[in-house]
Order: sequence, then C-alpha cells, then structure tokens
Amino acid sequence: MDKDQGKTGGVKGYFTKRKVYVMGCFIVLCTSFGYVWYTSNGTWWLTSSKVSNTMSNTQDLDDFHKIKQTRMIYTKPQILNPPRSDVLMMTPWFAPIVWEGTYNSEILNEQFRQRNVTVGLTAFAIKKYVVFLKKFLETAETYFMVGHRVNYYIFTDRPEEVPKVALKEGRNVVVLQVQNYPRWQEISMRRMEMISCFSQQQFINEVSYLVCVDVDMRFNDQVGVEILSNLFGTLHPGFYAAERQSFTYERRPASQAYVPRDEGDFYYAGGFFGGTVMEVYKLTKKCHEAIMMDKAKGIEAIWQEESHLNKYFVYHKPTKILSPEYLWDDYLGRREILKKRRFLAVPKNHAAIRNK
Ligand SMILES: *[C@@H]1O[C@H](CO)[C@@H](O)[C@H](O)[C@H]1NC(C)=O
Repeated sequence: MDKDQGKTGGVKGYFTKRKVYVMGCFIVLCTSFGYVWYTSNGTWWLTSSKVSNTMSNTQDLDDFHKIKQTRMIYTKPQILNPPRSDVLMMTPWFAPIVWEGTYNSEILNEQFRQRNVTVGLTAFAIKKYVVFLKKFLETAETYFMVGHRVNYYIFTDRPEEVPKVALKEGRNVVVLQVQNYPRWQEISMRRMEMISCFSQQQFINEVSYLVCVDVDMRFNDQVGVEILSNLFGTLHPGFYAAERQSFTYERRPASQAYVPRDEGDFYYAGGFFGGTVMEVYKLTKKCHEAIMMDKAKGIEAIWQEESHLNKYFVYHKPTKILSPEYLWDDYLGRREILKKRRFLAVPKNHAAIRNK
C-alpha cells in the first residue's frame, strides 16, 4: 500500500512539475511572439509612412509614437436589424449608394493614399462658361479629393481666359483647347466625344480615375475618394425618389437613347459621373456613337447626352451610386433631406450664358 501510495504520489509530483514546465514554456513563447508581433507591427507603421530613413534616432522614436496614434479605432459596423425598406443603401446588384454616414473616410483615404492615385476632374468651359471656372476651381481646392493628387482637365475654346488659381501640392490645371459649336445642345453632347478622345490619348497615361462634371457648379462640402469605383453615376436631385414611370428617359424607340417604360433603375444626372479611365472611355465612346447615329437620323434625345448616359447605365450598371448630395440644386429638391450638400448648382441666366 505504502509503495503504491508512494508511486502514486511520485506520478502526481511528476505531472505537476511537467505542467509547470509546459506552462513556463508557453508563457515564454507567448511573450516573445507578442514582442516580435509588436515590433514588426511598429516597423510596418514606420515604413508605410516612409519616415524611417530621414529621421534621427530620437525623432524616429517620437514619430513612431505619433504614427502609432493614427491607428484607426472606430465602432464596429452595425447591421441594420430589423432591415428597413425605406433605407436604400445597396442596389440589387450590390452597388453601394453613397450618402453621408455610410462610409469611413479615414479608412478610404488611407487606402487610396497608399495606392498614390491621381484623380482627373474634367469640366467644359466653352464660350461664356469660362466665368464659372474661378469659383469652380477655388472651391475644388478646398473640398475635392483633399490630400490626393488631382489633375483638373479644363476643356475650353478660350484658353487665355482660364483664371490662375492657387493650387496645393500635387494638383495641376491642364488646359485642353477644343472647338465650340453654335448650339448649346451640340456643345453639351460633344463632351462625350471629347472625353473619349482624350481618355484614349492622354488621361489613360496620367490618372487612375476620371470624374466628369458640369462647370456651372461650386463645391460646398467634401467630395473625396468615397466616390471612386469602376463606374459610378449620381442620382438626379429631381428624381432620386421618383417612380420609374416618371423618369424623363428618351421614350421614342427611333432614338438610340430609348429606354422602354418597364426598364431602368434610377434617373442619373448628366452632370456628375465617372470611373476608371477605361470605363469612362467605354461609356463616352458608346454614348458618342449613339449620339452620332441619332444625328444621322435627324433625332436629338430629349435631354441630349444625359439621355444617352441613362440608357448606358440601364445596361452597364454602375458599381457605385452617388446620392444627390453630390449634385444638388435647391430649386429641384428639399434640402432638409440631406446631411451634406457637396456640389451645388450656381444660379445662372440660361439665355445670357448658353449661346454666348
Ligand atoms: C505618386 O505618383 C506621382 C505621379 O504619378 C509620382 O510623381 C510620385 O513620385 C508618386 N509618389 C510616391 C510616393 O510614390
């Protein structure tokens, strides 16, 4: 009995020591693994911001702590539960609809900065429309793609009238001289041709994304990388909540812009669309060809290139949809529905500006 007890006691003792040994090893391993993880993490932050080579050792350490504080800590995204049918956040083809509050600009800015993207903003200042350029460019410097590289592509027939506006680092104005046309409708439609032409020859070598907008506008709040995607369109401020039947698509079957009454998702604004240079090239080329086919038949779509853009989006779905925050006109909608009015129509006297 004694012997057995002793044996049992010995076995017990052996296991206890072994347990202590295993636990000890485990703690040592955890600590060293944690240390390696911590330092490698720290190194990653340093190299990612490219400061390590240029700083002295103490500055290095200071910057290390500063940079570590830029770690992004934010509330876990919440699933809407129960779902609300009156909140439309995602199209049936899984394109997000961008409203204020639906994205985290800190995360997105970091992603796009790491990719060092350059964004092209195209605007047409033909004839008297050059008067809009100053406010347009000045407000863009304040609100458009802040902290990112931007090329403003200004198409104009009056290059000498393009105002000099102070630009931040990494931002350029590129003036592209083009011809004008007698009718404003023709000027408006020819934008598709010019964008497709320059996309192929120039933009493809200079920028990653194109944002194509009207010039008789001003930026009034942030318009940043949250808009960027392969192909994006903007809900027209006059129709964002309208039924399909009331969309002002081209309804004459003879036009290339024709959309049948039982088709179409949204009515998109002609004054704000974009995407990668390749997607914008495909879109503008297709729309220009459709416009030329109509022209040959003596037809002009009801809302010119906007009708053709809407036709295109019925069959080439945008990968991101921008809310009317991105193209707003107080005359067309109730401003109380918006948290932000980012890009606003500048009131103008149509007759005085359009054909001059
Ligand atoms: C970002 O891109 C521009 C032009 O495409 C280039 O001149 C610049 O050196 C790049 N910056 C970095 C940090 O890679």
